[in-house]
Amino acid sequence: MSMMSSPATSPIKAIAFDAYATLFDVYCMEALAEEYFPGQGTDLTVQWRLKQIEYTRVRSMSGQFKTFWEVTRDALVYAARRLDIAMSDTQRQHLMNQYACLRPFPENLATLDALKAMGFPLAILSNGTHSMLDIAIKYNDMNHLFSHILSADSVQKFKTSPEVYQLAVDAFKVPKNEILFVSANAWDACAATWFGLTTFWVNRNNQPEEVLDIAPTANGRQLSDVLAYVGGLQG
Ligand code: LAC
Repeated sequence: MSMMSSPATSPIKAIAFDAYATLFDVYCMEALAEEYFPGQGTDLTVQWRLKQIEYTRVRSMSGQFKTFWEVTRDALVYAARRLDIAMSDTQRQHLMNQYACLRPFPENLATLDALKAMGFPLAILSNGTHSMLDIAIKYNDMNHLFSHILSADSVQKFKTSPEVYQLAVDAFKVPKNEILFVSANAWDACAATWFGLTTFWVNRNNQPEEVLDIAPTANGRQLSDVLAYVGGLQG
């Protein structure tokens, strides 16, 4: 395995990453939620994330697009209702503001640096709005890493709409299967595989495989496992 070969020798020519739960740890707002609502921080953040994803799907399927920022706020309102939490406007605002200061998982920056050093153009491909993504990227000094920041906003549809995955093809201008799409969300990796991308599922929490008649091309336990995967593909 030669980590220094150029991507010219690899069947993978470019790599796109999901943002939330893949590059950025979305449960890091749990601490603030726990501070506000002792004993309910975990439930609140889990319900919030689940409802956020559900609303992206309902809105995409019904042609009722609203930005990911708005969907995320709506999901937080619902999660509080669901758990019978009396959340003030200020608390809601502060929890939303945590989105601006999400941190990458510990191994992520070194992994992204190494992939870039191997010659792969890197992108983010996310449901998040450009401004949500830009803030998180700047906050974590990750500007230099990415050649493209691709947001579902551009097509007014969320994942798993094919139009969103197509953004990576249009940006990198290489065939679908030469793009590696990396996501910690199994449903995202499966749908991108249906679309035709080569995919890597970062299965951080040892989840079972989805039952969707499709499996991601490869998987690992953390982002750094992508290095061994693409290294192993190089001739
Ligand atoms: C994203 C969500 C799905 O960044 O994590 O697109």
